[in-house]
Amino acid sequence: MATLSQVRAARRADASRCRVALVGLGTVGKSVAQILQGQRDESPLQLTHICNRNVARKQASWVGPDVAWSDDIREVLATDADVVVELMGGLEPAFELLRCALQSGKAAVTANKQLIAEFGLELQQLADDRGLYLGFGACVAGGVPVLSALSDGLAGDQLTSLRGILNGTCNYILSRIEHAGCSFDDALAEAQQAGFAEADPGDDVDGLDAGAKLAILARVGLHVQTSLKQVTCRSIRDVKAIDFQYAAQLGYTIRQISTAVLSNDMIHMAVEPTLVPKNSGFAKVSGSQNLVVSSGQFGGETTFGGCGAGGGPTAVAVVSDLLQAAHRRSYPSRRPARTAVISRKATTDVETSHYLRFVVRDRPGIIATLAGVLSRHDINLDAVLQQPGYSKAELPFVITLEPCATSRLQPALAEICEFDFLVESPVRMPIVT
Ligand SMILES: NC(=O)c1ccc[n+]([C@@H]2O[C@H](COP(=O)([O-])OP(=O)(O)OC[C@H]3O[C@@H](n4cnc5c(N)ncnc54)[C@H](OP(=O)(O)O)[C@@H]3O)[C@@H](O)[C@H]2O)c1
Repeated sequence: MATLSQVRAARRADASRCRVALVGLGTVGKSVAQILQGQRDESPLQLTHICNRNVARKQASWVGPDVAWSDDIREVLATDADVVVELMGGLEPAFELLRCALQSGKAAVTANKQLIAEFGLELQQLADDRGLYLGFGACVAGGVPVLSALSDGLAGDQLTSLRGILNGTCNYILSRIEHAGCSFDDALAEAQQAGFAEADPGDDVDGLDAGAKLAILARVGLHVQTSLKQVTCRSIRDVKAIDFQYAAQLGYTIRQISTAVLSNDMIHMAVEPTLVPKNSGFAKVSGSQNLVVSSGQFGGETTFGGCGAGGGPTAVAVVSDLLQAAHRRSYPSRRPARTAVISRKATTDVETSHYLRFVVRDRPGIIATLAGVLSRHDINLDAVLQQPGYSKAELPFVITLEPCATSRLQPALAEICEFDFLVESPVRMPIVT
């Protein structure tokens, strides 16, 4: 039995600890609770409340008796918790929870990329006005501390571009198409069976998930006001096994690449299937691994890589933010100097090399016809590739282009789409050299 002085010491220790209310006990929430419970005695953090809808079915014996359970978010806001962790996902009631938490003087931590991409600036303003901490390190690249590295470790540089692989589902699907030679639909079905893809995979394969992460990355790393609406998102649904064969002939493979580039006072942000060199770091990324490469005016390229998803890695990022919140609570005067975000016009126009794949009903003169259209738009061909052995009724071949502005290529492709020899619309992918 503890002595009176031990109980008093424990109470004093508890009073100095940062009280954490966790909302959303799912994949990430459970891992966060487990880390906090496992470190109970020595940690500056104390898990005091867990909230989830229909909470009774979530209660577990590994959670200590000193944790209060609730299924009412308003109850959490009325507690004496110092920090609220939002791990429900979705825009509402997540936004309202964090807004009310900050308004009532509580710090806030979230792993919710949609929320931060959409309302991050508003919440940050609210937090800054009240001298409170808002942590969202888990929103991008899960367990890879890329946001804190960009905002602190590389604060001395002027970053000009960020390029990354930010979605594990697309990695899995593209790797399966590449190695098993299967269709997109079969690779997606496999990914769903293996638990790597949601029942509704649209956000992942059509680029919206990576787009939200890119908007946050660009805001933090390039100091630009961004929103998901400014990100051009193109799906990986049209990528076929034949594209990997042609890409391999050229020394490349295909990945879903997220790019944010500053140029001429504009910002270009895109998520799209892209040819990357076979010997690059991007080509070696697999499964739930994420990779981000930043380019700075003074420091050159810096690469961040690691586990981009999953309960454990994401929970580590959340708990790291909670430790920051506890630190800010102990040293409230030490507010980090924030670099102002500036407004830049978004542009969809960027100069790059391109890969074009056509499937045609073969007849003489097709390549000359395509070259004619491209030349009229002042676009130079780089290479033409055609593998033998395909039916003339559905013949796939590839043209690669020297660097040209997408604004020049798009009208040329619109003209090309009118030709009756096309079996399907051409597939266009940028090439990263
Ligand atoms: N999983 C990852 O690898 C990962 C990685 C990076 C970031 N994130 C982000 O982390 C957040 C949580 O993801 P997750 O994978 O842990 O999701 P999850 O497994 O679906 O967990 C969400 C939890 O929140 C609860 N919840 C949902 N809406 C609620 C509401 N209105 N009121 C109360 N409780 C509610 C759910 O309850 P029910 O059990 O009733 O559904 C569930 O327990 C999301 O923003 C996600 O984008 C996840």
